[in-house]
Amino acid sequence: MRRKEQPRLALLLLGLLSLGWTGAQPSSPSTVPTLPLRPEVSPAADTLGDPIFPGLGQAGLDVRHYDVSLTVERPGTPELYGSVTLTLSSTRPLAEIRLDFLGLAVSAVRWNNRAAPYRVDAAAQKLSVTPPAPLLPGQEARLTVVYGGRPGVILDPGFGTPVQLGWQSVLAADGRVGANFTLSEPHGTHTFLPSNDHPSDKATFTTRLTVPQGFTAAASGVEGPVTERGGTRTFVFTQAQPIPTYVLGLHVNRFERVTAPAVPVGVGGATVARRDYFPVGTPPNVRAVYDRTGEALRVLSEWFGPYPFGACGVALVTPRLPALETATLSTIPPNLNTERTAVHELAHQWFGNDVSPATWADVWLNEGFATYSDVLWTEAQGGDGQAVAARWYDTLVRGGSRPLVATREEQLFDRSAYQRGALAVHALRAAVGDAAFRAFLRAYTARFSGGTVSTPEFLAFARAQTGERGEAALRLWVESPTLPPLPVVAGR
Ligand code: ARG
Ligand code: ZN
Repeated sequence: MRRKEQPRLALLLLGLLSLGWTGAQPSSPSTVPTLPLRPEVSPAADTLGDPIFPGLGQAGLDVRHYDVSLTVERPGTPELYGSVTLTLSSTRPLAEIRLDFLGLAVSAVRWNNRAAPYRVDAAAQKLSVTPPAPLLPGQEARLTVVYGGRPGVILDPGFGTPVQLGWQSVLAADGRVGANFTLSEPHGTHTFLPSNDHPSDKATFTTRLTVPQGFTAAASGVEGPVTERGGTRTFVFTQAQPIPTYVLGLHVNRFERVTAPAVPVGVGGATVARRDYFPVGTPPNVRAVYDRTGEALRVLSEWFGPYPFGACGVALVTPRLPALETATLSTIPPNLNTERTAVHELAHQWFGNDVSPATWADVWLNEGFATYSDVLWTEAQGGDGQAVAARWYDTLVRGGSRPLVATREEQLFDRSAYQRGALAVHALRAAVGDAAFRAFLRAYTARFSGGTVSTPEFLAFARAQTGERGEAALRLWVESPTLPPLPVVAGR
């Protein structure tokens, strides 16, 4: 799914800016953005040309929907098998479709239900399919891949000890209780799903997971009816709003699915289903962390605008890992089973999942806003948000920081992405005041809902909404090689 109107609107904004129109304040030519709105990708380039992961994706390919059916016969072992049907369109003629894919074995490929030639290039992590005729703009096609085996292995170097991304397999010591789940950010999804594995190509998902009796499957989206057959159970989930591939959450475990009252904070007052997945035996004090999710939904939606999806909750996992904002169903490890993490991952449902980074260089837009939710939640509890911001500032003074647009993989989830990113948001609030800050947040999520945003587009939008003052405050935190002064928001 792609929003083709977006760059045009941003260009229009830039055009208006250069004509001296800012919506709120007079402009000065010296603050007109100079960065290109999006990195240039030459039409001949085959990938999406991401500045951090240049090999990911295919330029011009637009996956609109993934219809995924996977079977896990022995939870806890890595093996899986099944198929995916991608609904494709394109923005340029494509004589070959090149999906990101690593590790699994392909047994059949069909193009609009007819067998199609394909080839797997493990070194390039691509599955290439040749359609009978090039896919042209305006056309739609269905590409089916039947596959199975062991998912590929991709490591993330940036988390102290390397973390394996993508499909996770957890086998308990007694060998009986096993679990599988996905933890893919930034580029692990193609270890278990052939995909255009880049956040700029968002898509909707239907996910069917078949597991042995006694196990429960969970996935991003709203759950449909469960079917039982021959000792297996098949669960189905519909993710009706487009999300980036890295936040597709899949879980298999001996779970208890615990529901709570729906919360009417969705778009147009729609209710949001509440369900959490706790591994059988999860103690009450661990579950209690999620007693206040409904309240957090209300507090955050007051600031951010309507909650973008139809369901909200968590799935708990047992290995020590980073947490992840898997869509509608945050994945929380035991080392991060805290209210702060729960609120942080909840905030990502707006910032990251609904409004997504145009490239991996822009991931601070995810982590900065999600981290900032700590200030908003603290204040909603009657606490001192400014003190939270001051602690972040101390961390940056001691540890150092960098301009916010990432240039290397190791920076994606560093303290600058989180704490300096959050202080950029705090600086905007300090510059424009609470009312304009709230109006900005709601306009921003509404404008980019379902789409993607780059850092220059974000700054241009901030300027159009909050004027030169708001944009300058943000730009200082985005670009300054040194640490700007701590912004102060008067106590509430
Ligand atoms: N987005 C996750 C969060 O909630 C962090 C993911 C870190 N991923 C990684 N591969 N280190 O903050
Ligand atoms: Zn985060």
